[in-house]
Amino acid sequence: MAEFDQSRWADNGFSQNYRDEADIYLPRRRHFMDMALSFYGHFISGNRAARVLDLGCGDGLFIRQLLQSFAPAEITLVDGSAAMLAAAQARLGDRADIRFIRASFQELLGNDPFAGNFDFIYSSLAIHHLLSAEKRDLYAYIYRHLAPGGCFVHYDVVLPCSAGLEKWYLSLWRQWIGEQPEGKREKLLTVPEQYKGNPDNMPDSLEAQLAMLEQIGFQQVDCYCKYGIFALFGGSR
Ligand SMILES: C[S@@+](CC[C@H](N)C(=O)[O-])C[C@H]1O[C@@H](n2cnc3c(N)ncnc32)[C@H](O)[C@@H]1O
Repeated sequence: MAEFDQSRWADNGFSQNYRDEADIYLPRRRHFMDMALSFYGHFISGNRAARVLDLGCGDGLFIRQLLQSFAPAEITLVDGSAAMLAAAQARLGDRADIRFIRASFQELLGNDPFAGNFDFIYSSLAIHHLLSAEKRDLYAYIYRHLAPGGCFVHYDVVLPCSAGLEKWYLSLWRQWIGEQPEGKREKLLTVPEQYKGNPDNMPDSLEAQLAMLEQIGFQQVDCYCKYGIFALFGGSR
């Protein structure tokens, strides 16, 4: 089993670098988040009692964006990294309707802290650190924790279906970094190679993950947007 404590995310320096640089090296990051927010606006925002869960929340950027447009009743942020959760707390402030839980996905699966369900479960760029069987277990866990009509939206890297496509997608990624402002981009040009060489990254194909969701029982399973190796996909209960 992939253990969070042995991953690079347990290293505070690594997570700080992500917080500093993700906007520069993640292609179309804001577009992916906007699509997730549009999904929320269309399917969930009419529910004034909506409960939201962000799995692998990082520094809480997505939830901050969500709160700028919508008013869910209750938000829960989960991350394996105490440093990330502290950054999320600093960004979102102390609020009675937001709770922060430090737990790895493996810990959630082993000792579930949640008795209740959620109307919207979001995760970005975190689940690809799990092995295939763990992804399946986590997707099943997410399904069990969705209220009827609830939705899961997942933005993550996926494994291309051929080496040729992967080569092109990684070059698209480098090109995107190369178009960022001078001074910021230089040391980040190798991020795609570092991503590829880092054994913590264990993406599965989009097709395999959509099939997992369908097998578990999710409805309306689809990919809502894709750019190179980055995809936004999910399903509802
Ligand atoms: C690339 S960052 C993404 C953060 C945030 N979702 C975003 O989009 O900016 C990955 C996050 O997942 C968390 N993470 C990675 N593996 C995890 C695991 N097994 N259990 C819980 N959190 C994990 C890391 O601590 C980190 O905050």
